[in-house]
Amino acid sequence: MKNIKYKTRKICCIGAGYVGGPTMAVIASHCKNISVNVVDINEKRINSWNSHSLDNLPIYEPGLKEVIKKTRNINLFFSTDIKNAISKSDMVFISVNTPTKLKGFGAGYASDLKWVEESARQVAKYSKGHTIVIEKSTLPVKTAELIKTILEAQSENKHSKGTKKSFSVLSNPEFLSEGNAIDDLENPDRVLIGGDDEYSINELEQIYRTWISKNKILRTNLWSSELSKLSANAFLAQRISSINSISAICEKTGADIKEVSKAIGLDKRIGNRFLSAGPGFGGSCFKKDILNLVYLCRYYGLKEVSDYWEQVVLLNNWQRNRISSLVVKKLFGTVSLKKIAILGFAFKANTNDVREAAAINITKDLIENGAKLLIHDPKVNSEQIETAIDLKCSDDIDNSNQGSWIFQEDFNKLFFEIDAVLVLTEWNDYKSIRWDIYSKNMRKPAWVFDTRNIIDKEKVISSGLNYWGLGDGNNFEN
Ligand code: UDX
Ligand code: UDX
Repeated sequence: MKNIKYKTRKICCIGAGYVGGPTMAVIASHCKNISVNVVDINEKRINSWNSHSLDNLPIYEPGLKEVIKKTRNINLFFSTDIKNAISKSDMVFISVNTPTKLKGFGAGYASDLKWVEESARQVAKYSKGHTIVIEKSTLPVKTAELIKTILEAQSENKHSKGTKKSFSVLSNPEFLSEGNAIDDLENPDRVLIGGDDEYSINELEQIYRTWISKNKILRTNLWSSELSKLSANAFLAQRISSINSISAICEKTGADIKEVSKAIGLDKRIGNRFLSAGPGFGGSCFKKDILNLVYLCRYYGLKEVSDYWEQVVLLNNWQRNRISSLVVKKLFGTVSLKKIAILGFAFKANTNDVREAAAINITKDLIENGAKLLIHDPKVNSEQIETAIDLKCSDDIDNSNQGSWIFQEDFNKLFFEIDAVLVLTEWNDYKSIRWDIYSKNMRKPAWVFDTRNIIDKEKVISSGLNYWGLGDGNNFEN
């Protein structure tokens, strides 16, 4: 451990979600002399964080259990006592969710900041002395201004409960990729700290310096930090829409997207990461962040710029739609009462998160067209799917005479009398399926649709099944 120079002794994080939980656990594991309190309004979630068995943590993230094991109830605490945690802390991270607004001004584009505002009000109310407030949630540019205004209104009220309060606001965006969050926290490409108060920036920098080298810590002004986060996600998402657009051309021309990706990625200027074509990007950030950027550009009258970024989301929607309609088309133009196994519901492998997963739109489309779906995922549960697609799991799928779904945990029961398999998440478990065995149970002619290009095409074909791979110009029909 490095020579510690920070004064901060108590940290609070509002929001015990995918970002707040892992981030605070890693800080606690490196900064043993700091007490880290993670608070949340959701009691059930806090109970899961505190549950005796580490298998019941509210989120699945490789390596998380181990970090929690060595920190929980030592210098990492989870509770719902927001007031107490804030009042004791020198530093408060705001890590609450900021979903896209569903109604009102900016609906469909702007982020709903009501929880960020509420968190700022709680900090203003309960804090004591000087508090460093850190935006961790991804926020629209200029949100720090809103937080500052709320906090300053309180610091002017000097004699509230006799304590003089002061605040400084920093932006410290997260760049965690789910499924890889612990490694991203341990070995980040960079840590961004935006702000103008030297003392507070130094305090936060010193905490990260406990395990991260100085050259990876980047200081910027507040607005650059906020905008960098939105732009980084927009660039990443843009790469996915770009490669997905090329996947469609491959299918028309006989080219193969895997070969094209490899050829493009070997150019060092482009690089080989984020070039896997798929059913469209999901997750809580990409779509929301781009829509925020679109909203911001419209607000400032930059129509061409907003149209440019919006196209990334439109292409993503198109990619999902084209997959569901392709499945229907290949199954003789109708999926009514046909059984289809869905492999993977999470928005990507190694997470149990289903937010904005391509599987949501695709399964809804198929159910709407009358299909009976048997959904499998190694980490997602039935309740999550029920909420995501807003439809109850069927009691008796075999006798149902309309579009319906069940959650099938048992892999061996997935393939009976099904017409097709649709791979939507790139879980390792799906890479070595014994098609020669399972094909015997399927109703012929049967199809395997692989939207992640992880299935062994030759084995599928030699098992007497039809194969369709995303971006494969030589798709095969028996
Ligand atoms: C993320 C990020 O923080 C944000 O940058 C990103 O844009 C989307 O969501 P994440 O941790 O993934 O947040 O969200 P989530 O798992 O929903 O966790 C947020 C938590 O904040 C929830 O547990 C919620 O109960 C809590 N919360 C929300 C509060 O404790 N107080 C509130 O007022 C609102
Ligand atoms: C993203 C950013 O990577 C992270 O830096 C940010 O802070 C939060 O948002 P996350 O959403 O967890 O992280 O996952 P990411 O790995 O970026 O994947 C997002 C989506 O893109 C997934 O649906 C994934 O399947 C898809 N994807 C990713 C592809 O389709 N192809 C690729 O090559 C890479």
